[in-house]
Amino acid sequence: MSRTVYVNGDFLPEEDARISVFDRGFLFADGVYEVSTVLEGRLIDNEAHLIRLQRSLDELKMGCPVTKDELVELQKELIRRNNLVEGGLYLQVTRGAADREFGFPRDAKPSLVMFTQVKNLINSPVAEKGLKVISVPDIRWQRRDIKSVGLLAPALAKQAAVDAGADDAWMYEDGFVTEGSSNNAYIITKAGVIVTRHLGNEILHGITRRSVLALAAENNITIEERPFTLEEAADAAEAFVTSATTFVTAVVSLDGKQIGSGKPGPLANRLRQLYIEQALKS
Ligand code: PDD
Repeated sequence: MSRTVYVNGDFLPEEDARISVFDRGFLFADGVYEVSTVLEGRLIDNEAHLIRLQRSLDELKMGCPVTKDELVELQKELIRRNNLVEGGLYLQVTRGAADREFGFPRDAKPSLVMFTQVKNLINSPVAEKGLKVISVPDIRWQRRDIKSVGLLAPALAKQAAVDAGADDAWMYEDGFVTEGSSNNAYIITKAGVIVTRHLGNEILHGITRRSVLALAAENNITIEERPFTLEEAADAAEAFVTSATTFVTAVVSLDGKQIGSGKPGPLANRLRQLYIEQALKS
């Protein structure tokens, strides 16, 4: 069945949706995006996603064609029109269509596109098994805190993982893990401490990261926000990733070497449970 998507003011069947070949998102990856979780037909942590969207827009001096309140109404309408119960809502703002010049066009109107994706997020078979990850050099640009649609490097990283028979890739720089191809990366030391890279320009400031770290703190789990090496990861008791579409998902091997028991660990499982319970209550 065809989805209804949203494109610049219209809700349309996906096959009828059109965007200009001159759109700067297409020509320059001159755009930003957000993916919000939908559970039981409701948006989860959406306010935080929209705040991050505004930050990404501000960093790129880009406008948005609608206000935040209008955007929320459009998101809800799109979920309603697609009868989406569980999955993700993707939204993208680009600088709009203009003749191809590198500098910002003076007269372009930003484009807004949204679509939904049905996904089993809670009963995810991948989460039950845990992820096998490989490590790849982080070849992305230096402003990874901006949620830019320029995703070629993460797409290459993910494909390298698939080609190697793994599920995902952890990217590293100067020997330290930055993050996963589309998620934040964590290890749990043998002493039960959660270690994840501190916020900065080197990683995306994950919305799920924030919620999960808050839950961990409430449950008296020690957190260290600092870079960790691939060696530390290989030697960890557990490892996991977080994102809007994976929640908390255990990582069970790195570059073919089993992490901990080689199965999703108890603390990762507990954090996943806590996160899901909180999301369903919100
Ligand atoms: N990706 N780091 C990167 C590089 C990401 O692309 C994402 C999200 C995250 C996690 O952020 P959050 O918890 O706010 O989802 C971290 C989304 C899900 C995507 O591109 O599909």
